[in-house]
Amino acid sequence: MATTSAPEAAVGTHDTFPINGTDYIEFFVGNARQSSMFYRAAFGFQLIGYRGPETGVRDRASYLLQQDKIRMVLTSPLGPDGFIAEHVRKHGDGVRDLAFWVDDARDAWTKAVERGATSVQEPQVHTDEHGEVVIAAIATYGDTIHSIVERRNYHGLFLPGFVPVSSQFQSSPIGLKYVDHCVGNVELGRMNEWVSFYERVLGFHNLLTFDDKDISTEYSALMSKVMSNGNGRIKFPINEPASGKKKSQIEEYLDFYGGPGVQHIAVATDDIISTVSALQARGVEFLRTPTTYYLELQDRVGAIDEPLEELERLGILVDRDDEGYLLQIFTRPVQDRPTLFFEIIQRKGAKGFGKGNFKALFESIEREQELRGNL
Ligand code: FE2
Repeated sequence: MATTSAPEAAVGTHDTFPINGTDYIEFFVGNARQSSMFYRAAFGFQLIGYRGPETGVRDRASYLLQQDKIRMVLTSPLGPDGFIAEHVRKHGDGVRDLAFWVDDARDAWTKAVERGATSVQEPQVHTDEHGEVVIAAIATYGDTIHSIVERRNYHGLFLPGFVPVSSQFQSSPIGLKYVDHCVGNVELGRMNEWVSFYERVLGFHNLLTFDDKDISTEYSALMSKVMSNGNGRIKFPINEPASGKKKSQIEEYLDFYGGPGVQHIAVATDDIISTVSALQARGVEFLRTPTTYYLELQDRVGAIDEPLEELERLGILVDRDDEGYLLQIFTRPVQDRPTLFFEIIQRKGAKGFGKGNFKALFESIEREQELRGNL
């Protein structure tokens, strides 16, 4: 039964403050130096900046990676104390900050807090010889935050404190272009709380809703609501577990992450076949798609530009909606805890999230969950 619903939303009229896009995603990890090597060698990011003891920051080391419009910061604590070390102890490697790029951080923070956001950082001005950046932050689910970054008076590399790095090792980019969406997992019964947080505090609207009839297998289920800002550059699906015969993949995440957090980051490419070929050649592991998936694919999605045998060889999934189709594939978790993973997505008109693939995808996730003894 089709239960997906797209509530009517006056797109762009409700934003509490305008968001230009994702400014950066910061990960707290156990060993940022080594993580940076993984994202460079395997995912084709360039190391372009660094902040740490050598640049006057005593408690942490941060590596700034970039590929096209995607900026990732990998940060490790340098000792056992403090909130970064605590975050890593509790959550393992994971996403700390989904940062918003705004034109006026003071105004954005003030409005968000007036509407009920919990402040993590009052607006602070950071300066160096390249100008000033204003950064504030608000809390979202779990220990995750949204920094609010104003950089209109800054002409430096990234943020004050970061110095440019030019490494002799440069892996070639693999066509990752921008962050398409970032998905959060929250506890059973709390999805609507966070949906209302994004509505009330940030003025986002509910783009799509998937209930447990859309997203269920024989064993487990989840529910999801996609929240979007007015210009559509920020899209946050929020998942909660739904009851099934066995443990939902969302519950497994919550157990191993130690609470709510970012489940996956979807990054867009214009050529998923070449991007995924490169990722696989460099050792990135993806969820396996059952070969039976491809037997029915042509009937389900109709004519597509890509050769089916290439898609099958790489395990790429396809889904079609009213406006076009999309191709997508999901990595296995990128750390030992079964928590964060990445999605590679190519949109050819479709604005959805691959609803037609949920069943095949979740059966694949459950095979892995079972191997871990967590189903
Ligand atoms: Fe996704």
